[in-house]
Amino acid sequence: MPATILVGAQWGDEGKGRVADWLAAESDVVARFGGGDNAGHTVVVGEKVFKQHLVPSGILHPNVVCVLGNGMVINPVNLIKEMDGLRANGVDVSPERLLISTRAHIITPAHIALDGALEKARGDQAIGTTLRGIGPAYLDKTGRRGIRAGQMADVEEFANALYDSIEQANATLAQHGVEPLDPQGAAAVYVEAAARLKPYLRDTSVYLNKRLQAGARVLCEGAQGTLLDVDHGDYPYVTSSSPTAGGALTGLGFGPCHVDRVVGVAKSFSTRVGGGPMPTELEGELGDRLRGTGEHFWDEFGTTTGRPRRCGWLDAVVLRYAAQVNGFTELVLTKLDVLSGFDTLNIAVAYQIDGRRYDYPPSTMAELERAEPIYETLVGWREDISGARREGDLPEATRVYIRRVSELCGTPVRTASVGPERDQLVFF
Ligand code: GDP
Ligand code: IMO
Ligand code: MG
Repeated sequence: MPATILVGAQWGDEGKGRVADWLAAESDVVARFGGGDNAGHTVVVGEKVFKQHLVPSGILHPNVVCVLGNGMVINPVNLIKEMDGLRANGVDVSPERLLISTRAHIITPAHIALDGALEKARGDQAIGTTLRGIGPAYLDKTGRRGIRAGQMADVEEFANALYDSIEQANATLAQHGVEPLDPQGAAAVYVEAAARLKPYLRDTSVYLNKRLQAGARVLCEGAQGTLLDVDHGDYPYVTSSSPTAGGALTGLGFGPCHVDRVVGVAKSFSTRVGGGPMPTELEGELGDRLRGTGEHFWDEFGTTTGRPRRCGWLDAVVLRYAAQVNGFTELVLTKLDVLSGFDTLNIAVAYQIDGRRYDYPPSTMAELERAEPIYETLVGWREDISGARREGDLPEATRVYIRRVSELCGTPVRTASVGPERDQLVFF
């Protein structure tokens, strides 16, 4: 069975890029199905560190074809920048290797300005968005007034649609006391990018279905994470798309019968960037230790925005929920190497809210904000595990930690990542 869906099990930044890079090696097609350049996926190839925002991580494997699916929202200017960066590093980004769905939606300068204005208006209730225009672009999509990527094929039509979008947004921006955008000036660079992207436009659903029928192996590379899903996440502290497994099917346009593997990627501890609940968050020394100082590129600072990520103990309530929502067939546990050196490690096994025990996260913000984690404490390990390549190379305490995670969320951990580089994986 040819399709694998890869999904973030927490709040994003679980290491999906590095896992997608590993799975891409055994795939023919790698497709992004949702989100836009709010994503930042890091892949290390030898000496080079690639940070992918829109182009799937599979592009770094020469035999893989990459797809930007209909569920995505695409900033054409940032896409061109990313493609140029890849080209400068010797990566082939020709239209034979990169296909853009004609049904994907376009992020306009108006969406970016609106994202900033709406965040400011939220004050201390701000979501902490990436300010990439994601929410306003999906709002236009569901409001049935968005601009689709296919419209870039006719540059004049695209320019007119952009002007209209900017003029309409100017009225809202004025209400927020924001300077209006000059439609002509703001759109010019977008129109230029559109002209360059025209050869990449395709009906990617037709393409994917043909490839699947011919037996190709398709990897669906999720962005964001389960708890950022607009339906299943910590609403309203979520993104505006469906980064969970169901979103892969609507975001790419093929049926569930093609999928036989759903890989959840979970970090060995919790991180979150932006606002919203995080019951196991650690403030102070322990949180700082998990975050790192920023001296390594893998320390916990946003790949897209550079913001310090909030850090905390692993939350098995979240993982159990993510396993349920996505139907994980297996888990990959990343950044286990970062846990070396702690005397003890806590895992939240349930929440307590107003004296009641919860095995799954409640759906309301009010309850989530009162959730107290019930911790189980495990013995830590001192050894540097970044050189481990086999289960037997891991200290017993690390193996106990991994086994306990499997038990707590009812999903086998089949892979552990002990460093950001391609070979730093242990298989079980
Ligand atoms: P993504 O958005 O899920 O793809 O994750 P990001 O790329 O935003 O953040 C994950 C960070 O952790 C990146 O810098 C990765 O290179 C790094 N990383 C991934 N797996 C490991 C690991 O096992 N150990 C360490 N130390 N870093 C890792
Ligand atoms: P990857 O794919 C982590 C978060 C933002 C904010 C919320 C809404 O790298 O894991 P948005 O700009 O989407 O409207 O912001 O979602 N967010 C992410 N956090 N990783 C991401 O992507 C994220 N994409 C969005 O920080 O809290
Ligand atoms: Mg990221």
